[in-house]
Amino acid sequence: MADWYFKEFGSAEKPASVGEVPWDYVEEYQEEIPFFGLREYWYPALFSHELKHNEHKAVEMLGDNIVLFRDKDDSPCALENRCPHRGPLLSLGQVNAWDVGTITCRYHGMTFDKHGECVAFLSDGPDSPACGKVKAKSYPAEEVGGIIWIYMGIKEPKPFLDSMPHAREVLSDGVLVRNRMQVPYSYLNQLDNTVDMTHVGCLHRTCYLFGDQKMGGGVAFEELPGNGVYARLRKTGGHGGTKAIDDIRWFMPNLVHHGEEFMDGGVHGIYFWFVPDNAGSFTAWLIGSINDKKVGKTKAKFMATTLKRALQSDSLPGMACFVGGDAPMQMAQGRIARWDKDYLARTDRAVIKVRNMMKAAHKAEQELRKEAGLPPLAHPVSMKTQADDRV
Ligand code: FES
Ligand SMILES: [Fe+2]
Repeated sequence: MADWYFKEFGSAEKPASVGEVPWDYVEEYQEEIPFFGLREYWYPALFSHELKHNEHKAVEMLGDNIVLFRDKDDSPCALENRCPHRGPLLSLGQVNAWDVGTITCRYHGMTFDKHGECVAFLSDGPDSPACGKVKAKSYPAEEVGGIIWIYMGIKEPKPFLDSMPHAREVLSDGVLVRNRMQVPYSYLNQLDNTVDMTHVGCLHRTCYLFGDQKMGGGVAFEELPGNGVYARLRKTGGHGGTKAIDDIRWFMPNLVHHGEEFMDGGVHGIYFWFVPDNAGSFTAWLIGSINDKKVGKTKAKFMATTLKRALQSDSLPGMACFVGGDAPMQMAQGRIARWDKDYLARTDRAVIKVRNMMKAAHKAEQELRKEAGLPPLAHPVSMKTQADDRV
């Protein structure tokens, strides 16, 4: 299965059409479906060690191009990666050239601080009227738990640790698990999969982590505080050992949370977080903390390695978890799974629930923008060139 995932598009087994972003579909349903992700949330952008002093990094998140650098006090700064003067990427410029904690555009030297204020315009001289007037778009940024987080919405955000359910456990001390991989299809394909307990006994029957899982049982769900869903197999215990999973906790904007009970009670908490890069690809983040005081250093290390491999590798026999399991299924659904064409069954109760929650949140966010006098956010036509170039 992993072989198929890495195979080029363009054969009967893996048709080119499956890899194309269905832009007509995006345009038709963009008001209803958040193809570029929900905005009023913090999202992981970089590992702390990836953002060094005197350097900047460009990332793409939710269809926005963002450039990150560090301020005088070390704190992360995030600006839209576009110079407001005449539009080139700020990431072609230099940080700390005019002053520490600023970024200077390569073209004519407009220079911005962490708030996006123009603090100097080198080619216009020290009395430039652009200073204090021109503004680059800035994003709230925080650094917690070895990760730089960016707030993508228009509301005034609460601090990251106060806004995500279970964030404190997931980022607490212990053996840290941190991993990330870019995935070349929509985060919405992954959305369905996260609450779909029924696929585990079928698709993952050869996976080490779910070796005891049996098929069947049907799915039920309950809502959780903090915009979440608890999905579970209706008939639990259909397996002979501990390597199985009967339930899952999902939260908006699209992540799975595993608590203390996970892996025989060995973790403080784990997030599998699916962050849209744009409409046609996402970055899967594994963020967690293992309770080494409880399980001991050696086992903690083993658990960390196993978890990382679950996301990225099929090199262990039987590790058909993501790249060898979920990812080929989701990639084969097409670049964006077609909600207008699929036939949902009673096994999809939780899938329908989370789709509806995402749609409702997307609608509420659009209302919010309208009230603030801002235009709607999804512009698939202008995104087309950019996203297609990434394939
Ligand atoms: S385009 Fe950036 S300074 Fe002119
Ligand atoms: Fe899966």
